[in-house]
Amino acid sequence: DEAELHRRIRAAKQTLGDRLVVLGHFYQRDEVVQHADFVGDSFQLANAALTRPDAEAIVFCGVHFMAETADILSRPDQHVVLPNLAAGCSMADMADEDSVETAWEELLDVLGETEPDGRASVVPVTYMNSSAALKAFCGRNGGIVCTSSNAATVLEWAFQRGRRVLFFPDQHLGRNTAKAMGIGLDAMPMWDPRRPLGGNTEEALRSASVILWHGFCSVHRRFSVAQIEQARAQHASVKVVVHPECPMPVVDAADAAGSTDFIRKYVAASQPGDVIAIGTEVNLVNRLAAEHPDRTIFCLDPVICPCSTMYRIHPGYLAWVLDGLVEGEVRNEIVVDAAVAADARVALERMLAALP
Ligand code: 13P
Ligand code: SF4
Repeated sequence: DEAELHRRIRAAKQTLGDRLVVLGHFYQRDEVVQHADFVGDSFQLANAALTRPDAEAIVFCGVHFMAETADILSRPDQHVVLPNLAAGCSMADMADEDSVETAWEELLDVLGETEPDGRASVVPVTYMNSSAALKAFCGRNGGIVCTSSNAATVLEWAFQRGRRVLFFPDQHLGRNTAKAMGIGLDAMPMWDPRRPLGGNTEEALRSASVILWHGFCSVHRRFSVAQIEQARAQHASVKVVVHPECPMPVVDAADAAGSTDFIRKYVAASQPGDVIAIGTEVNLVNRLAAEHPDRTIFCLDPVICPCSTMYRIHPGYLAWVLDGLVEGEVRNEIVVDAAVAADARVALERMLAALP
């Protein structure tokens, strides 16, 4: 039963002590988050992996690309464990390496490698929510990684080096960030990998500033302007805060937009009695509501909106991998190929160096 699982997890953690660190993303269910040594957004958790070089095992309660990133950034002798290997990310799966390589070749055919001013014609930027192979692609091709908490800083870095950006996999984060930087929608063509030139004319690609991959988050794309209007109709004083993976009209209609950690801080800075509607994964929203019972905090989507793959990390899997570690067996280890990891680390380190 559930109580027995929690006892097993606590006992294994106690036995393993400092040899173990458990990381939990904000979107994990409370039954899992209660066992995490660090809880954070994808950027904070990547850093948390770096702060525990003494730990033999990093158990990552999140999704596959996050565990890959922890493996890339951690020491070679540290084991990174994903409690359920089926915890992927549908957005990350929307950009596969072959399609991006093909897009890249087509783009360089049309645009050439460099501009008359010596900058690159196009710089690849991948959202953290992507495979290690795509981070490595960026590392090899003068590109960089961003997260939802630093996308604008990273795009500025890219525009110092190149005339254009190819941004993948999330069209919405790319569009929302570029728009906030003053880039017009006509300079943001979408790239559909099923069509030649991504479905664009050569002219459109030449005049582009940000070329957007067609990916999206199946959780965040469900939020709508109608939901915001309804929240405003029901609560005159409501403040609406959403994640930048939401579609642009939703971000435009909200009072604020930012990463999961931004949303957490936004709520922390509010006052007792405030009403806040949130457009992000429901586990985080419900936790924020429970932490602030003196405020009215609710999810914009009235139909419960969990990330189904984050949800695949169940306490039963956590107990199983921890029992394995106690017995000296590393279960569900995530190992990124050494050459891929080396290239991906270049793109991740460019991100860390670009930050203020
Ligand atoms: P952040 O944790 O960077 O806000 O990303 C949200 C998300 O969708 C993670 O999968
Ligand atoms: Fe992927 Fe969206 Fe789930 Fe994050 S919330 S893991 S982007 S599907």
